[in-house]
Amino acid sequence: MKRNLIIVSACCIFSFTAISQKKSIDQKVDSVLKLMTLDEKIGQMNQYNGPWAATGPLTNDDKLLDQIKEGKVGSMLNTTGAKRTRELQDLAMQTRLKIPLLFGQDVIHGYRTIFPIPLAEAASWDMKLIEQSARVAATEAAAAGVHWTFAPMVDIARDPRWGRVMEGAGEDTYLGSLIAAARVKGFQGKGLGNTDAVMACAKHFAAYGAAVGGRDYNSVDMSLRQLNEVYLPPFKAAADAGVATFMNSFNDLNGIPATGNKYLQRDILKGKWKFKGFVVSDWGSVGEMINHGYAKDNYEAAMLAANAGSDMDMESRSYIQNLSKLVKDGKVKLTVIDEAVKRILRMKFVMGLFDDPYKFSNEEREKSQWNNAEHRKIEREMAKKSIVLLKNNPLPPVGGAGVGLLPLSKQTKTIALIGPFIKAVSDNLGFWSYDWPDDSSRITSTYDGIKSKLSADTKLLYAKGCNINDSVTTGFAEAVEVAKQADIVVIQVGEARDMTGEAKSRSNIHLPGVQEDLIKGVMATGKPVVVMINAGRPLIFNWTADNVPAILYTWWLGTEAGNAVADVLFGDYNPSGKLPMSFPLTEGQIPIYYNHYNTGRPAQNDNDRFYRSAYIDLSLYPKYAFGYGLSYTNFEYSDIKLSKSSFKPTEKLTATVTVKNTGNYDGEETVQLYIQDLFGSVVRPVKELKGFQKVFLKKGEVKEISFTITTEDLKFFNDKLEKIYEPGEFKLFIGGASNNVKEASFTLIK
Ligand code: NOJ
Repeated sequence: MKRNLIIVSACCIFSFTAISQKKSIDQKVDSVLKLMTLDEKIGQMNQYNGPWAATGPLTNDDKLLDQIKEGKVGSMLNTTGAKRTRELQDLAMQTRLKIPLLFGQDVIHGYRTIFPIPLAEAASWDMKLIEQSARVAATEAAAAGVHWTFAPMVDIARDPRWGRVMEGAGEDTYLGSLIAAARVKGFQGKGLGNTDAVMACAKHFAAYGAAVGGRDYNSVDMSLRQLNEVYLPPFKAAADAGVATFMNSFNDLNGIPATGNKYLQRDILKGKWKFKGFVVSDWGSVGEMINHGYAKDNYEAAMLAANAGSDMDMESRSYIQNLSKLVKDGKVKLTVIDEAVKRILRMKFVMGLFDDPYKFSNEEREKSQWNNAEHRKIEREMAKKSIVLLKNNPLPPVGGAGVGLLPLSKQTKTIALIGPFIKAVSDNLGFWSYDWPDDSSRITSTYDGIKSKLSADTKLLYAKGCNINDSVTTGFAEAVEVAKQADIVVIQVGEARDMTGEAKSRSNIHLPGVQEDLIKGVMATGKPVVVMINAGRPLIFNWTADNVPAILYTWWLGTEAGNAVADVLFGDYNPSGKLPMSFPLTEGQIPIYYNHYNTGRPAQNDNDRFYRSAYIDLSLYPKYAFGYGLSYTNFEYSDIKLSKSSFKPTEKLTATVTVKNTGNYDGEETVQLYIQDLFGSVVRPVKELKGFQKVFLKKGEVKEISFTITTEDLKFFNDKLEKIYEPGEFKLFIGGASNNVKEASFTLIK
C-alpha cells in the first residue's frame, strides 16, 4: 500500500518527458529516502549470500529470511532462478516500504550457455563478438531473475601464477580498456531497465591483479603513476561506457585496503570520474580490514569503509551491525549514509524494480532462454576466434613440404585422439561457470565435435593416456599403441577446471601431472602429432613447444568447445587468435610483459650479459610474446609509410602498411600498432599497443591498412599524475605480434 503511494506521488509530481527521465529518477529517489528510517537505510547497504550456493566463506545465519522481511537486506547474491528470486522478492514486499531487492550473480562468461573464459575471448581481439558474448550472458541471466552481474573483471594481470588471470583481458592496458567497454555494453545492452539487460560491475577496484607473487588476496605496493597509467584505465573505460556499479578489492594498496581507500573510491571514482552508480565491497572485505591490521574491529571497519565510499557491504555484516551506532556516535555522517543509499536506490529505479519488482523473475522467459540455439551459434563463433595457433610446422609427407601439418584432412583414414581432455565435458567450461544437471548432454566434448565433422570412413581411436594431475602412467602403453595405428594423432592436455580461478594461484604453471610425459611417449612413435592445450592461464610446456610440430592453445572454450576445436583442426575455420598475455619460458621469468622499460642497460640479445636483467640461466624473451598467434596462411607486411615525418599537436599523422595474404588459405589477421616515446620527463615503455585492426584477406589478396595518430595516443601520466604528451621523437611499429613488427620514426614538434 505504502509502496504504491510512493510511486503514485513520484509519478504525479515527476511524470515529465523522456528528457527529464534522469532528473525524475533522482527526485523519486529523494522521495523514498525521505520516508526511510536510519535502520531501513542501513538495510539497503547490506548484501547477503543466498542459502543455495557460496562463493566465499559463509557466515552462518539462520535468520536470513526474517531479516529480508525486516528490511535489513538491500541485495542478495548467489540467488538465481525466476522462482527463487520471486520468492525472496515476496519477502521484500512484506517490508514497510516495499523496497525491492537486487539480485547479483557472478555471470563471468555466460550463464546457461557458457562462453570461453574472458582471457580466451580477449585472444580474439574482436570487440563486437566479445560484446555479443556478454549480451547473450545478460539475456540468459536476466531471464533467470538476475539483475546484476559481478563482471567484467578488468584487472590488468602480468603474472600468470595468479589464478584470476582467467577472468580478465590479460596484460595490456589498451586492449583491456577496449574489452572492458565492450563487456559493459554487452551486459547493459540497449539500456538498463530492459528485461534482457543486467547491471555490470567493474572489478576489482583496484590493482588486485598486481598482488605480490601472483598470490591471491595478496598486498599491492606500486607507484601512483603506475596505478594511474597501467591499472586504472580499464576501470575508467568501464565507467565511461556507463557501468552501473564497481566492486572494490581484497588487496591493500600502498598500505591501505582498497575497501577503506578514499583515494580510490572518493577522490578518483566518485570525484574525478564523477561515477554515479554504487560501489559494492568484495565478499567480506569490509570485515577483512581487521585482518589487514587496518581496523581494530567491525565497528571501525564499517566506519572506514563507509567513509571511504564503499556503499554496500557484501557478506561481512559490518554495516548492518555497526552503522547505526556509528551514526549516533558521530563517526559516520548521515550524509554519507544518505549518499550511499541514494546511489543504490537510484539503480533500483533505473532497473524499473519499483514499478515491477518481479519483472525479471518470469518463468516463461526463463524457459525460453534455457536452450537457445542462436546463443550456441554465437558461442561457437566466439570459441573458434579465441583459439591461438602457436605452432604449425611442415611435416612431409603428411602436409607436404612447406605446408603446415594443420589443418587436418577430413579424408584422413585413422585418427588417434589421446589425452584427458578428449572426452572431457565440464572441464571445457572453466572456473566461474555453473553445473547444470544436463551438462553431460549439453556440452560438446572434443571427441564428439570431431566425430560429427567426419564421415564414417575416418576411424577414430581413443585412449585417455593419463589423468590431468597425478603421477599415474599406466595408461601410456595403450595411448602409444593407439597412436601407432593412426595416420595422425591429436593429443589434448591442460589444466582442470578448478586449477585456475579465485584462490587458485599456482607456483608451478607447467603442464600438470604426467601429461607432458604422455606427449613424449606418443611423439616417440614418430607419428605426426597435434597438441591442444586447455587452460585458464599461460602454461609452460617447453618440451612440447620445441618438439611437437603443431600446437593449438584452446583455453577453456565453453559449451561448444568440441565443435569449435573441430572447426579449427579441420580447417573450417582458419585460426586468428593472438595472445593477450606473454607466455613465460619458466616461472622464474615472471613477471614478464612486453611493455617494460628500456632500463639503463637495454640488452640487444641473450648474449649481452652485462645488460638488462638477463638471468645467466635464462633467455630474456618469453616463449610466446604478447600479440603472437599464427594462421594457416601467411601475412606479409610492407614497410611503414608515414604521411609526414614530423607533426604538430594540432595535426594528425597517418601510418600505412600493406598486408598481403601470401599463403594458401583465406584468413584474418590482427594488424597491431605500437608506439614508443623515446625520451620523456619520465621513462616510457619500449613499446605500447595503441591500435589494431582486424582484416580478412582472401588468398593472394592485399589490403592497405592505415592508422591515424594524434596526441591522444602519445599521452602518459607524468610525475605529477597529469596526463600529458611531450613533443619529441617517437618510434612507431606495425606488425602481427609485439615482437614481429616493422618500424618507423616520427617527431612531434611544438
Ligand atoms: C569474491 C570475488 O573476488 C568476486 O570477484 C566475486 O564477485 C565475489 N566473491 C562474489 O562471488
